[in-house]
Amino acid sequence: MADKIKTMYVCSECGHESAKWFGKCPGCGEWNTMSEEIREMPKRGSAKAVIEQRTRPSAVPVPITEITTEDEERYYTGSKELDRVLGGGIVKGSLVLLGGDPGIGKSTILLQICSHLGKILKILYISGEESKRQIKLRASRLGVNCENLFVMTETDVEIVANQIQTEKPDLVMIDSIQTMNFKELSSSPGSVTQVRECTNILMRTSKSLDIPCVIVGHVNKDGAIAGPKVLEHIVDAVLYFEGDKQMSYRILRAVKNRYGSTNEIGVFQMGDSGLSEVENPSLMLLSGRPKNVSGTCVACPMEGSRPILAEIQGLVTNSGYGNARRMSTGFDYNRMSMLLAVLEKRCGYYFSSLDAYINVIGGLRLDEPATDLAVALALVSSLKDIVVPEDVLAFGEVGLTGEIRAVNHAALRATEAARLGFSKCILPYHNVKSIVLPEDTNIEIIGVRTIRDAVAALARQ
Ligand code: TYD
Ligand code: MG
Repeated sequence: MADKIKTMYVCSECGHESAKWFGKCPGCGEWNTMSEEIREMPKRGSAKAVIEQRTRPSAVPVPITEITTEDEERYYTGSKELDRVLGGGIVKGSLVLLGGDPGIGKSTILLQICSHLGKILKILYISGEESKRQIKLRASRLGVNCENLFVMTETDVEIVANQIQTEKPDLVMIDSIQTMNFKELSSSPGSVTQVRECTNILMRTSKSLDIPCVIVGHVNKDGAIAGPKVLEHIVDAVLYFEGDKQMSYRILRAVKNRYGSTNEIGVFQMGDSGLSEVENPSLMLLSGRPKNVSGTCVACPMEGSRPILAEIQGLVTNSGYGNARRMSTGFDYNRMSMLLAVLEKRCGYYFSSLDAYINVIGGLRLDEPATDLAVALALVSSLKDIVVPEDVLAFGEVGLTGEIRAVNHAALRATEAARLGFSKCILPYHNVKSIVLPEDTNIEIIGVRTIRDAVAALARQ
């Protein structure tokens, strides 16, 4: 007889357990903390059998010297950008979570992977969102037509797991985890418990058969995949698709990767025939840059192991209302406030009665301190109407005393700037001594110690 599954409601704050759901936890009084969890009943049988099963050694310790480390087997997806984000292709037996806003291009990229891998592997594509006809229409649009791609529309996770076991494909794609349903649970599909249990079932199935599995997860309003942390630690790699839906390009970012480095990004462009790779993102991000105007400065953040040039625009205007407005898109709001305070206190630029706006072009999100200097210069440039020449680039971390602190990968950043035709680079003085540029790099390095120095260097240009 099959084991009966029993569920309990457990408070995530205090761990209080109850057989029924409460809006307010009877244990600690917190609201909305009770979530459904599975408690499996022990197998029926004699007490002896139960004890034997519980005391059986489940895993045997092995000396570390005896563990072999052959290279993991990887499947190359046919897209250089995606392979880089994955750390060199999909690892056999791994579980990859692909997250992103609805409509960003997750299903599209899955089908495009199929078009390449379908030539050599048997792929099972399970969709709980679209009908077979819709998938076929999209596939024809993308030019995907391979006999080894099997499509199934199903939302019952147990049926999906059974199919994986019988079909034994080489790669499984689940689109999306929020539509999967484990019918033993009373909560609706997409709830944290459903998402977690369905992922667990899929993980057990794919790991036991050593089949890699790509799972699509939608991002909720707060920007987290439903059941965010629970899912992230179950899977081997978490990739997020980012980008403005209004714009054509998309950034794929690895936030966790057990088989490669995180922070790597891949840049894609959405066109009529699906997603195409952008091999030179800096060039794309700088296209259409205004010439000879104040309030714009180019920064060079590192995205993983790659330097990328990004344009930062600042606008400082008289405040129409009593209290000044500050707005920042693509850059941390608090960091912007800090930079405004440093500029006021250390350099005597007064922003208190002025509105200040920062915008990073291209929907890019910059969270690296090395972009501070470019943000500060964009603000000063707008305030004082000083033009940052179009061939000048700046990077460096700004400290609270107005000092410019050294950043890592200075040489890589300066080389990328030179490659894109910049002729002057304002960077931290402490980086200047150690910077070694490739021989044919033609760029003037201007080392600055303080933010005042940086503004003075601009005025000289
Ligand atoms: P989709 O992959 O369905 O998004 P997700 O699965 O993340 O929800 O992407 C749908 C969007 O992509 C939709 O707005 C149409 C656009 N698109 C193109 O512009 N070109 C194409 O070739 C395809 C297939 C989609
Ligand atoms: Mg989709």
